[in-house]
Amino acid sequence: MKIDLTGKRALVIGGGTFGEGNGIGRAISCGFAACGASVVVADRNAEAAAATCDLIREQGGQADVMVLDVTDAAATQASIPALSGPPIDILHYNVGIGFASETQALESAQFASVLDANLVGLHTAVRAVLPGMRERRHGVILATSSAWAHRHLGYSHSFYAASKAGMEHFIRLIAQENAPFGIRANSIAPGFIDTPRVRHNLARSYGASSFDDILARRAGQVPLGRLGQPEDVASLAAFLASDLAAYVTGGDFPVDGGLIGAGIAS
Ligand code: NAI
Repeated sequence: MKIDLTGKRALVIGGGTFGEGNGIGRAISCGFAACGASVVVADRNAEAAAATCDLIREQGGQADVMVLDVTDAAATQASIPALSGPPIDILHYNVGIGFASETQALESAQFASVLDANLVGLHTAVRAVLPGMRERRHGVILATSSAWAHRHLGYSHSFYAASKAGMEHFIRLIAQENAPFGIRANSIAPGFIDTPRVRHNLARSYGASSFDDILARRAGQVPLGRLGQPEDVASLAAFLASDLAAYVTGGDFPVDGGLIGAGIAS
């Protein structure tokens, strides 16, 4: 048994990465390509999207850049159906932003911006691909949620957590609405994943000196004893995107080393 996406075209929104190295969207894009899909890498950061495409091509895969800010609903609605080339078989929505601050200190406008990017953007993207998927009677929709949708993870992140919880239920309902059209939809809930974005945020919040301690402390909270790698998430995404998951829809799947179910230290 092998994950095979040959002949499929995937659109990964948020397929760039903040900074240098591999974020989750880049790993997912490369993973889809390694399984044979051609990948449209969409991101509001043109350089980040181009870097993902370069990596895919270096590895022998096929990729196209799409510069897109999903919070611009009109542009998203217009540009996705207008993509040249074969139709989109797989949509992976990987955009995620948040404010890791105490709720009382945050403004409503900040909540609106998080919901706009994480949740309204998902609806816009889904709405742009669904007509084609319904017509062809097949398609896969995936979204990167978070362990934060399931539990508190030790610091304040309420806007982000609420948006990701909403994302999971939205995907569950999209799966129900679209099952009669042969379309599957699932969400993935990563735990502590070691990405350039996380490292940047930790360095900003705690300072570079305590950086390694914090990463080690987080790893120690994970039952499997390590931080996740972006590729851990990419493996699950590739499986869910493939026909091996033909009977899997409406689910949310942790890839967290056991973090969501972990007990409180006694
Ligand atoms: P990242 O910030 O490197 O990746 C997100 C990408 O989305 C970036 O390339 C960014 O430019 C793009 N993006 C942001 N807003 C956009 C918009 N309006 N339109 C188009 N593109 C936009 O972050 P990372 O760490 O790789 O996380 C990726 C996803 O995984 C996010 O949804 C995040 O919430 C989720 N996640 C990450 C975890 C972690 O520990 N790193 C844990 C759980 C979930």
